[in-house]
Amino acid sequence: MKSRIFITRKLPEHMLDPFHENYQVKMWEKEDQSVPHDILLKEAQEAEGLLTMLSDQIDAELFAKAPKLKVISNLAVGFDNIDIEEAKKYGVVVTNTPDVLTETTADLGFSLLMAAARRITEAADYIKQDHWQGWEPYLLAGMDIHHKTIGIVGMGRIGESIARRAKGFGMDILYHNRSRKPDVEKELNASYVSFDELLETSDFVMNVVPLTEETKNLFNRQAFEKMKRTAIFVNISRGGTVVEEDLVEALKTEQIKGAGLDVFREEPIGKDHPLLKLKNAVCLPHIGSASVETRTAMISLCLDNLNGVIKGTGAKTPV
Ligand code: DGY
Repeated sequence: MKSRIFITRKLPEHMLDPFHENYQVKMWEKEDQSVPHDILLKEAQEAEGLLTMLSDQIDAELFAKAPKLKVISNLAVGFDNIDIEEAKKYGVVVTNTPDVLTETTADLGFSLLMAAARRITEAADYIKQDHWQGWEPYLLAGMDIHHKTIGIVGMGRIGESIARRAKGFGMDILYHNRSRKPDVEKELNASYVSFDELLETSDFVMNVVPLTEETKNLFNRQAFEKMKRTAIFVNISRGGTVVEEDLVEALKTEQIKGAGLDVFREEPIGKDHPLLKLKNAVCLPHIGSASVETRTAMISLCLDNLNGVIKGTGAKTPV
């Protein structure tokens, strides 16, 4: 009897070809819609492996209803959508996709920083809306990036890659992290500072922390009030680390200068979301790791992890 795996979003068929011989593969076929939770629960009942997206909630109920489940292979580096304690309780291995997405996600973080600082989306809209009358000395003037101070909150692999980019721009690099990183301090001339000092002195605050109980709502009114009035806040972590109403208020009242956001508390956000009404917020639909090369590498790693756990050779990247 072939092991059954369920994939919660449509992936390229050719990547699954090698799996059909040994596995019964079922895939949610809708490209633009997450699998409804009741269908996921039903599919999990018979599955030995699930290949999940960060938008799927893998909760206690699912583990309780999935007696054959051995592995959950999550297509993301973050795994806050999975109840890890329950997974441990039921002996289910959870895997993620670190490393393969590091550089791509850092590229996006830095792009957001640059887009917010130099008002790129606003300027692109301006010309499309036919407002351009001619050259003006301060037309859509933004702020410099080079030689400014970046404060990176969460110096993991992606944080380090962002710091490397910042070094290329001649920036001063501050960071805050659970533990100090002497290698990074040496290589990139980065300085470890308290969270408050980082907020108070950075021109760009880059949020790369994983979402945990400790980091939930970390960026709230008090945090925004500590930032410089000229500061730009960039979030490529998870929406849950930010109190969105407080961010909206900080942007509206120009408590801070601008924001670049790839993630939101409730995704997807609709066109009426208050952040989309603000000129000084650049918002993207959670595309941090979305290059074709990287998404393909992530899918491939997910499939390797699934196969490794089910076949008993182990996962490459368990969490
Ligand atoms: C991740 O992998 O956790 C990222 O948010 C994807 O873009």
